Amino acid sequence: MTPFRISFCCTNTDPEPWLAGLRTALPQADVAVWQPGAAQADVAVVWMPPQAFFDEQPQLKAIFNIGAGVDALLKLRLPPQAVVVRLEDAGMAVQMAEYVCQAVIRQFRDLNAYADDVHAGHWTYYPPRQRRDFPVGVMGLGVLGARVAQALAHFEFPVLGWSQTPKQLDGVRGFHGPAQFHDFLASSRVLVNLLPLTPETANILNRDTLSRLQPGGYVINVARGAHLVDEDLLALIHSGQLVGALLDVFRTEPLPAEHPFWREPRITLTPHTSARTLREDSIAQIVGKIAAMARGESVAGRVDVGRGY
Ligand code: NAP
Ligand code: GLV
Repeated sequence: MTPFRISFCCTNTDPEPWLAGLRTALPQADVAVWQPGAAQADVAVVWMPPQAFFDEQPQLKAIFNIGAGVDALLKLRLPPQAVVVRLEDAGMAVQMAEYVCQAVIRQFRDLNAYADDVHAGHWTYYPPRQRRDFPVGVMGLGVLGARVAQALAHFEFPVLGWSQTPKQLDGVRGFHGPAQFHDFLASSRVLVNLLPLTPETANILNRDTLSRLQPGGYVINVARGAHLVDEDLLALIHSGQLVGALLDVFRTEPLPAEHPFWREPRITLTPHTSARTLREDSIAQIVGKIAAMARGESVAGRVDVGRGY
């Protein structure tokens, strides 16, 4: 591979271990943290970079996003010739599967109620539920959603999936497109959101859609905060239409102290941690794709900028 320059521009990320990993794997590359006025780079490794980065780096050939979601990146003006590549799995899918499965199982097995009872010194029993009464709908059957759906199917929950285009996954009843969306919702009791945030999917978890879930509905949002209309979720929980929610992502992060989600006991919050970027896996994936591009091969995980994911 001929010498080339990589510019690293990642918000909320300690750059040193990334630089060390990239330099070890790509000794022929000049790898540096971007500073205003820096020399032109060939490749960018980014997470929520400022617009100034792209304004000053118009010759980039490839932009690697060190996350699966590219919604923040696609809000910026990018060099039109640059290929945008996101992380595909890189250790996130198994994390997402364990996070969602534990949440579904906690609901199904009344484990929160048991924990409260035991804490209060009570030895109580709840009637066992039937799995057939606990269908789980997964919105988005991409790299993460497909893994989550299949992990849920492994626990023998009835699993439904909704995607843009038709998908066939063992143990998962597939729905696709806007025409099948309401049937998908009406067939689900627990709703898991793993859609990318695009103009089509913003605010998709709202009063109308969430009201269509089966009685006892529960919402798990692990995709992006802007998918959810916060007031609609609260109203549906307060009215008893939904029993609760698990939220990992928010319109503003960190979640502001005054937000009512903090004070609603039927909503469980986690700080955007359901599937973390794993540095070693991510560097290995990015380095593999840089090498493939240098050989003139096409790489998976290329973002369709027009489509938004
Ligand atoms: P992906 O592989 O691109 O999959 C996206 C899925 O959504 C695809 O199945 C796609 O359908 C479907 N989809 C997109 N637009 C749709 C629409 N309008 N209607 C119906 N289905 C639609 O993405 P991924 O890697 O699984 O990641 C999903 C999202 O998870 C990311 O975008 C990110 O926001 C979020 N995420 C969150 C965390 C966290 O820690 N909370 C971590 C990683 C990722 P087709 O397959 O038919 O195209
Ligand atoms: C995290 O939210 C990601 O998109 O990887």
